[in-house]
Amino acid sequence: MKTTVKIKRYDPDIDDVAYWQDFEVECDEMDRVLDILNTIKWEQDGTLSYRRSCAHGICGSDAMVINGSNALACKMLVKEAGSSITVEPIRGLPVVKDLIVDMETFFDAYKSVMPYLINDDPVPDRERLQTPEQHEKFEDTTKCILCAACTTSCPIFWTNDEYLGPAAIVNAHRFIFDSRDQAGGERMAVLGTREGVFRCRTAFNCTEACPRDIQVTRAVEEVKRAILFKKI
Ligand code: SF4
Ligand code: F3S
Ligand code: FES
Repeated sequence: MKTTVKIKRYDPDIDDVAYWQDFEVECDEMDRVLDILNTIKWEQDGTLSYRRSCAHGICGSDAMVINGSNALACKMLVKEAGSSITVEPIRGLPVVKDLIVDMETFFDAYKSVMPYLINDDPVPDRERLQTPEQHEKFEDTTKCILCAACTTSCPIFWTNDEYLGPAAIVNAHRFIFDSRDQAGGERMAVLGTREGVFRCRTAFNCTEACPRDIQVTRAVEEVKRAILFKKI
């Protein structure tokens, strides 16, 4: 089949503003949008710039706006996207070139919640034990691949990039609710500030955008309640 792909292009070295460019690609309906971008780059225009690595929905590199919604290009099939596809960079972060955005703000927010296990007890001889019920509390948020689809679909983040955003909150949740961790209070102190979790207005865009099907809004609400009621 033939597919028309409309891509938002921008090269800061030569363009004053972004513009749309159309490409026609011969493809199969079982190809992914990433395959189409690769075909364009390898056969039509080598200057097209985008991030990708694993091509299997694991590394989180290729989140982009496809037909108006955030998605991973390597997970969306042509048969889902249709014969006329639009592709733009994710919103709310500065565009570096074409579909590549500057992720610095995103990773600063991620780092600010200390996304690693903190436990000052002496290291035990064997692993730190946890019951299945204790693990269940944060199992969902362990699935995050840091693709930024949630944060860049959030209307609060679009208007205020100081908002830490759902991805940082999901990664804080993963440790706040881990019975082996001892720094939940420090993380909640970060998330209880002006640009923290209470900026969320429960828009649910983040949950819809997550390619890992994480219940992002639920995680945000659980962190809000943990801060308000000091109960984990
Ligand atoms: Fe991506 Fe989902 Fe993690 Fe957000 S929560 S960064 S959408 S994997
Ligand atoms: Fe934004 Fe998700 Fe809250 S989209 S407003 S973080 S529910
Ligand atoms: Fe790794 Fe798509 S290329 S998630």
